Amino acid sequence: MRIAIVGGTGTFGRALVHRLRGLDDVVIGSRDASRAREIGVIHGVAGAANEDAVREAELVVLAVRSNAAVDTARELAGAIGTTPLLSVGADLRFTDVGVLPGRLGRSLAEEIADIVEGPVAAGLQTLAAAHLVQADPPEEDALVCGDEPACGLAMDVAARLIRGRVFNVGPLANARALEGLTSVILNVNKRHRGAMAGIRLTGVP
Ligand SMILES: NC(=O)c1ccc[n+]([C@@H]2O[C@H](COP(=O)([O-])OP(=O)(O)OC[C@H]3O[C@@H](n4cnc5c(N)ncnc54)[C@H](OP(=O)(O)O)[C@@H]3O)[C@@H](O)[C@H]2O)c1
Repeated sequence: MRIAIVGGTGTFGRALVHRLRGLDDVVIGSRDASRAREIGVIHGVAGAANEDAVREAELVVLAVRSNAAVDTARELAGAIGTTPLLSVGADLRFTDVGVLPGRLGRSLAEEIADIVEGPVAAGLQTLAAAHLVQADPPEEDALVCGDEPACGLAMDVAARLIRGRVFNVGPLANARALEGLTSVILNVNKRHRGAMAGIRLTGVP
């Protein structure tokens, strides 16, 4: 599958590239094409300006910093056209008492779905970049929700990232819960020294 990772120069984007290279036709997108190409050379994949990266893609992964995701979706909507999109972001609020979900209402992914023309999925929020860059895929599950065919394509990608199972957790409104899980995991990591928590569902045959 040809996958464009918008913001693929970042921590999570590079972790995705680390796991997907050689399995998929990956192109790293950046606001700075030369930076995308430089990082692409290191990983043995292509690099391009975001708008060029998304044009030929079968799946666009929006992996920019969360507070830039909506504006980036708006800027690239024309170039993305009807191509399926996976939103991996989660808005967070860092406070004195801990990390909180950054949104109380609709999710980032739902807002992005209002902007782009094609189907939108959300997922992978529970997979830490630090887990994905290890030598072996992490022993954890991945959760994905949203519109088809974006959700199915995102599940295919997720299956190449982890050793656990990939679950379709329903319509895109469930992105509210998936995005919220990010702050849950960060609070666990904060309270347990040395923790790098991931998710595993039990009781599912
Ligand atoms: N880090 C994790 O473990 C993890 C795990 C699961 C999900 N996520 C999600 O993945 C997304 C990326 O996280 P990250 O840790 O990789 O973030 P990051 O390294 O801080 O940023 C990723 C990329 O975002 C782009 N960017 C930054 N500011 C921007 C702006 N104002 N406009 C457009 N693009 C901008 C940059 O690409 P260019 O400068 O090259 O354009 C940057 O390399 C977030 O939404 C996060 O919630 C992260």
